[in-house]
Amino acid sequence: MHIQTTLLAAGLLPLGYGLPRPQITYEENSGPVGGVDPPFPTFTAAAGDLRGSTNLQGGIASRPPVSGGDSAVVPDPELVNGQEADADLGLYLDFNSATPPNGPQPIRGGQGGTDPGPRTYEYEKLNSDIFAPPGTDQGDVPQAMWPLGLSHNRAGTGKESGWARQQNTDVLPAATAMAGVDMRLAPHAYRELHWHTSSEWALVLKGGVRVAVMNEDGASFVDDVTAGDVWFFPPGVPHSLQALDEGCEFLLVFDSGDFSEEDTFLATEMLLRSPKEVWAKNLQVDVSELDNIPQDQKYIFNGTPAPADIEKQNITGSAGSVSGPDAYTYHWSQQDFHNTTGGSVKILDPVTFPIAEMFSAALVVLEPGAMREVHWHTTSDEWSYFLQGSARITIFKAPEASRTFDFTAGDVGYIPQAQGHYVENTGTEDVIFLEVLQAKKFGDISASQWLALTPRQVVKDTLGLSDAVLDAQPKDKTLIKPGNVNLTAIAAGSS
Ligand SMILES: *[C@@H]1O[C@H](CO)[C@@H](O)[C@H](O)[C@H]1NC(C)=O
Ligand SMILES: *[C@@H]1O[C@H](CO)[C@@H](O)[C@H](O)[C@H]1NC(C)=O
Ligand SMILES: *[C@@H]1O[C@H](CO)[C@@H](O)[C@H](O)[C@H]1NC(C)=O
Repeated sequence: MHIQTTLLAAGLLPLGYGLPRPQITYEENSGPVGGVDPPFPTFTAAAGDLRGSTNLQGGIASRPPVSGGDSAVVPDPELVNGQEADADLGLYLDFNSATPPNGPQPIRGGQGGTDPGPRTYEYEKLNSDIFAPPGTDQGDVPQAMWPLGLSHNRAGTGKESGWARQQNTDVLPAATAMAGVDMRLAPHAYRELHWHTSSEWALVLKGGVRVAVMNEDGASFVDDVTAGDVWFFPPGVPHSLQALDEGCEFLLVFDSGDFSEEDTFLATEMLLRSPKEVWAKNLQVDVSELDNIPQDQKYIFNGTPAPADIEKQNITGSAGSVSGPDAYTYHWSQQDFHNTTGGSVKILDPVTFPIAEMFSAALVVLEPGAMREVHWHTTSDEWSYFLQGSARITIFKAPEASRTFDFTAGDVGYIPQAQGHYVENTGTEDVIFLEVLQAKKFGDISASQWLALTPRQVVKDTLGLSDAVLDAQPKDKTLIKPGNVNLTAIAAGSS
């Protein structure tokens, strides 16, 4: 039975439910057509309009029939490929083929059970490993996934000038070492001149941006960056960002889990929050020269186009300009990927981008069926972001907990230091994702390489793996493991 029909039968929904509602339009709401004539119905607590009789209390009220009322029976549950396989095999379940209300169902290898509702199917389809977890998931692992699509969006102050939304400990409490912001600037729009207490590392996702920075020595820096490029601003170092002709969207990563976009030091507020007399003295001008300063912060706002010739915006003092190892940008888009079986990887860390002294990142492409191998990071938490595709990650937390999370484009992942994990492409297109660490050098411990480089007898006595398995483990790091694009084929015995 359809869920609404079931609820209707149980008297849980008013009879008018499902019928077209009268449309109430402003300025029409007092007429006889489509509106309600005053006085509007009111409720009085004393009359008990909203409460039932005390005769409904248990022990007094008549008991409901044991059957024939509202039913929790799900008559024809629909199981998708892989759902009947052994739960510990943990195949990825693609619920897109399941048709509500018969599917999806939180069942795996006979574990779980049907779900008569209430429910929102789209969440379950996007998070099948949360809805029907692999049998190997156990215990408690803190929430490690946040979709930026669920973050509150802060609009800029100018007409369609842009927006910003963020992930921090407010929405992902376990993510204590890093936070992220996704920001959009319309063509020529600015992110207002500002600074902050955290370090900022950024990856341009779309379009182009002109950045301008000045450091403590009075050395200045201007540069243009495009999709795939990176910038870094140390704590306290003031900067500006302006979108070039086609606008831009970029991802910011901060080295503090409770960073908030709401808490940056803005140039407008800097002027507004000290006496005008002080600013007149500081700028060595008459107070009247401050008559036209903005009365409120500008944050994200529309601007005049930046001159194509960047030299026109290159202002230097006696300290000159910043370049080379001190540069605040890295043109990562021009670095080739290292291509391997199943995908590609490129790394950016302080070895080649020294100003970002604690930011180490990898951009990883996984072909369908492929997997970023099981690994962990020795000293840092990992903040990750999905640029494309769908994937899943299982986090193994000592001593005996694990949980599997699903990701799609625009989602943030967070894996605490030393906790084991993999990233498996569960979709039909390439997955592209970013891993960011707080480390001087990008690195990880590869589980299979560790097994290959540990005395054979020790591994065999401990894990019951055969010589054939251990012979197959490469002694050099592979980073990515290829696999069958049909993630349920193994259930039928053909991996
Ligand atoms: C800015 O000018 C300095 C010389 O004063 C030069 O070294 C630097 O390359 C210029 N920057 C750009 C982006 O042209
Ligand atoms: C290497 O991988 C990148 C990213 O997937 C891709 O754009 C490029 O075409 C690949 N290069 C070769 C030679 O296959
Ligand atoms: C994947 O493999 C399973 C088991 O062999 C099969 O039933 C299913 O049709 C395959 N799916 C696709 C998309 O080929």
